[in-house]
Amino acid sequence: MCGIIAYAGHRPAVPLLIDGLRRLEYRGYDSAGVAFIQQRKIHCLKASGRLSALERTVSSFRMPLLASSGIGHTRWATHGEPNEANAHPHLSNDGGFALAHNGIIENYREIKSRLAGLGYVFYSDTDTEPLVNLIAEERKKTPDNLSAFRNALLRVDGAFALSLICLDEPEAVYAARKDAPLVVGAGTEENFIASDVTAFLPYTRNVIFLEEGEIARVTPSARAVFDLRTLEPVSRHVRKIDWDISSAQKGGYKHFMLKEIFEQPAVLRNVLAGRINPGGGKVELPELEKLPRPARIRIVACGTSYNAGLWAAPLLEQWGGIPCAVEIASEFRYRKPILGKDELVILISQSGETADTLAALKIAGASKAATLGLCNVIGSSIARGADRVVYTQAGPEISVASTKALCSQMALLAVLALHFGLRAKTFPVEKAKEELARFSQLADLLEGHLPLLRREVEPIALRAANAKNIFFLGRGQNYALAQEGALKFKELSYVHAEAYAAGEMKHGPIALVDRDFLTIALAPRDEHLPKMISNIQEVAARGGPIIMLGQPGGETTPESAQFWSIPECPPPFAGFVILPMLQLLSYEAARYLGKDVDQPRNLAKSVTVE
Ligand code: F6R
Repeated sequence: MCGIIAYAGHRPAVPLLIDGLRRLEYRGYDSAGVAFIQQRKIHCLKASGRLSALERTVSSFRMPLLASSGIGHTRWATHGEPNEANAHPHLSNDGGFALAHNGIIENYREIKSRLAGLGYVFYSDTDTEPLVNLIAEERKKTPDNLSAFRNALLRVDGAFALSLICLDEPEAVYAARKDAPLVVGAGTEENFIASDVTAFLPYTRNVIFLEEGEIARVTPSARAVFDLRTLEPVSRHVRKIDWDISSAQKGGYKHFMLKEIFEQPAVLRNVLAGRINPGGGKVELPELEKLPRPARIRIVACGTSYNAGLWAAPLLEQWGGIPCAVEIASEFRYRKPILGKDELVILISQSGETADTLAALKIAGASKAATLGLCNVIGSSIARGADRVVYTQAGPEISVASTKALCSQMALLAVLALHFGLRAKTFPVEKAKEELARFSQLADLLEGHLPLLRREVEPIALRAANAKNIFFLGRGQNYALAQEGALKFKELSYVHAEAYAAGEMKHGPIALVDRDFLTIALAPRDEHLPKMISNIQEVAARGGPIIMLGQPGGETTPESAQFWSIPECPPPFAGFVILPMLQLLSYEAARYLGKDVDQPRNLAKSVTVE
C-alpha cells in the first residue's frame, strides 16, 4: 500500500522525508517522491523503482536542500504504470500545490474531463493529478487553502489519505482522510503526518489518529484538526504510543496476517469503488469494454487464487450465464488443453509471478482464446502478458499466507459475473440493484463483526489446534471455502487438514471418521443446508467431533456439534464473512501452537519456480 510522510518543523525536511519513506518500505512500493518549497517554488522530485533511485535524483538537485517542510510518498500503483510521471506527489498546473495520495478517487475521470475543458493539462494517468488541479481551481474561488482543500474534497467520491503543501503557505502541511488511515505526530517545534506511525517513530511517540472525514493543518508550532464538511475545529487528544518499529509496521497487530485479515473491509471498499452502482443496477469494468462475450470461461490459478476461481465459477454461470471451468495451473500447463477462439481464460494471481500460472498464460496466449489477468501487483508478468488485466487493488500482502488478496479476487469475480449477466441482459437490472445494495453493505458488516469473531474464535481454534486430522466440509460455494479453510489450516499450523465436498464423504472419506478425527462443517443457511445437515449427522453418528459454522436456526443440529455463528448475511455474500472466520481459525491455531504465522516453513510468498 502507498505510504505518506509529511513534515513541518526545524530540521532539513528532504532527508527526513526520505528516512521516513524508508521506514514505510515494508508496505511495498514501486516508485517514490518528495515535494518541498524552496526559492518560492514547489519542487517535486520523483523516481520509479527503489528509494535509492529517488536518493540519486535528490542528490543531483542543483541547490542545497534548505526546506524545513514537505511531503513524501511511496506509491504502490493502482492507476497507471509504476513510472516517474505517475509517482507522487503531483503538482497542480499553476505550480501552487503538491499532493500525495493513498486510496482511490472513484470519479476522477469526470473531474479530469471537466478540468480539461477549463484548459488543465494532465501529465500522468493517476486519479490524484485531477484532484490537485481541482484544489487549485477551487482556490481561485476561496479566500484560503483550507476552504479550497475542503471544497475540492466535497466533490470527490472514493477513499483517500492526503497530504498537501501550498506555495503561498510554505510552513504549513495539510492532510485529510476518508476510508484510509492517517496519523499526526506531535513533536516539539515540529509536526508530522503519516500513513502510519512507523514513518516518524524515531522523532515522536505522541500521536493523534485522524478520524474519518477530518482535515488537519500542521505548522512547526501548531496543529489543528477540522471537520471536513463544516470546517468546525475538532478537539483531539494526543496519545502516547509505546509500539516499537516492528509492531508499528503491523499497525499494532501481532502479525501481518492478522492485520491483513482486518484490512478486508477496506479491501472490499477498494475493489468495489467506482465499479458498482447499486442505485442504477450497474457495474463498470472499463478494462473489458471491447471484450466480446465469451462462450466459455476457463479459470486457471494456483493455491488460494485457485480457490477464488472455485468460489466464483457458480456465480459466473448463474449470474453471468457463461459456462465456467476451473483448473489448477500446474495441471493445465501439461495436459495440452483444447481452447476455442470464443473462450476466455482468466489467470488469477496475487503476485502475478507464479511460474505455473505464467506458463498457463503462455499456453492460452498461443491459442486463439482471449486471456484476462486478475492480478494484485501492477506491472507483474501475468498482468503484462495477458490480453487484458483487471487489478484486484488489495494492496501489498506481506504475510506469506494469502488472506486479503482472496477477498479481493472473490469480490472482483462477483463483479465480473454481474458484468457479463447485465451486458447480455440475462441478469435483470432490478435483481442487480438488490444484489449490489447487499454487496455495498458488506464492508461495514464485516468491519462490525471482525472484533467479535476474533474473540469467539479462541476456544474453537484451541480445539482445532489439538486435533491430529481435520476434514473441512462444504457444498456449493462453501466447498471452495472449505478448500481454503483446509489449505490455510495446514500451511499455518502444520496439522493435517483436507477439504471434501460434503456429498463425497460417503464415497470413501467417511471411513476415517472416529472420535479423534475433527470435522469442521460450513453450513450457512442456504439451499444446501438440509443436505449439509444430513452429512453432519452422518459424521456425528460415527462419533466424529464436529465444529459447525452455521447461522441461527441450525444450531441444534446435531446437539453434539460445537456451533460457531456466522453473522447474518445472505448467500453468496456470506462467503465474505465465512472466509475471515476460517482465516482467524487458522491464525489462532497456529499462534497457539507457536508457529511462525507470517512465514510458515517451506513456503514462499511468490512461487516463481516450478
Ligand atoms: C496460500 C498461498 C498460496 C498462493 C499461491 C498462488 O496462502 O498464498 O497458495 O495463493 O502460491 O499465488 P499467486 O496468487 O501469487 O499466484
